[in-house]
Amino acid sequence: MGPLMKSPFTRSPLFKPLLLAAAIAVLTAWLTPAQAAQPTGAAMAHTCAGCHGTQGKLGRVEFVPLAGMAETEFKRAMLDFRAGKRASTLMGHVANGFSDSEIDAMARYFASVK
Ligand code: HEC
Repeated sequence: MGPLMKSPFTRSPLFKPLLLAAAIAVLTAWLTPAQAAQPTGAAMAHTCAGCHGTQGKLGRVEFVPLAGMAETEFKRAMLDFRAGKRASTLMGHVANGFSDSEIDAMARYFASVK
């Protein structure tokens, strides 16, 4: 029986620090959100849930469901509410709180919810 074969690399004093650095790099990439600067459409959609239902889906239908609404239709509605071009009791105030890019992000989110 000869001595156990060990690769010279794993025995090198650099192996452990390199392994640690690689593990940290992987963890950092995993923990960093893709769009740190802007809240996602899904996150912003939570603020609509009280009236429009969770994920824009409604059990009851007093309020308009948003799930599956076409992106262009959604954007048109929000921009018209915000500009006061479309009459509303509540949505003018709601829409006022969002920038164009936030409305875009929500439009993509709601269109993606089936
Ligand atoms: C306080 C209740 C309330 C909240 C919160 C709310 N909405 Fe509304 N929404 C309404 C009402 C009521 C209407 C009908 C128009 C009106 O009278 O304001 C409406 C209508 C809409 C419409 C038009 C639907 C259509 O068929 O044309 C859209 C789009 C919409 N809301 C999106 C949103 C989004 C996006 C949010 C979250 C950022 C939100 N709403 C939050 C009450 C609410």
